[in-house]
Amino acid sequence: MDDVVTIHKRILRLQEVYHVPEIKLYLSDRETHRRKPTDRFDCWPHAWVGGQALARYVLDNPDIVAGKTVVDLASGSGIVAIAAKLAGASKVIAMDDYDPCIECIKLNAKANNVDIEIQKHDIFTYSPNNVDLFLMGDPFLNVDLFPYLKSSFNRVLIGCPNRMSHYSSYMKNVVKTYHLDIKFDGEPEYDVNIWWLNE
Ligand SMILES: C[S@@+](CC[C@H](N)C(=O)[O-])C[C@H]1O[C@@H](n2cnc3c(N)ncnc32)[C@H](O)[C@@H]1O
Repeated sequence: MDDVVTIHKRILRLQEVYHVPEIKLYLSDRETHRRKPTDRFDCWPHAWVGGQALARYVLDNPDIVAGKTVVDLASGSGIVAIAAKLAGASKVIAMDDYDPCIECIKLNAKANNVDIEIQKHDIFTYSPNNVDLFLMGDPFLNVDLFPYLKSSFNRVLIGCPNRMSHYSSYMKNVVKTYHLDIKFDGEPEYDVNIWWLNE
């Protein structure tokens, strides 16, 4: 397997994830992921702090996913999906609506020797059947997202820092807070909460 690949004109290097060394991912070495806060299409080749914390939580608490059907929503690099599979989920679906992510998740699943289903879909029209648990690392910035997730999916476990003021009203049932010393997105470190959206 090559250590360096190019996807969508971005050079990605296979590397250990800082807070989840059990997982290797093809990631960009650039520290800053986006040119403007709204440019979601430049955010994909990174292991976001929310995704790293949620992957850490899943690996350290495998009972949450063991034997279950799990969906990693807006999976990006696939980090949370890969953690769920390594932790013993029976079936894992990684979904995202962006082609480079789909390509990257395929490579990352192979690099970690895990079998996960990969689906290209817009989350706002996504309605899979027979899912026990939804996971979401570092949700994208859209004020409609949490109300939509709350009304559409039964059990959703989220990992993210408090990026926007409207997050606070949803971030009630926090089960763990990780202090991550990662330089990312212009900040030197982050407190990242793991929280249940509907419970
Ligand atoms: C901040 S990144 C997080 C990626 C990954 N979960 C992590 O923690 O590293 C947000 C992801 O949401 C995806 N995304 C944005 N809008 C989406 C939508 N409407 N449907 C599905 N995925 C979406 C982006 O393509 C991107 O991969």
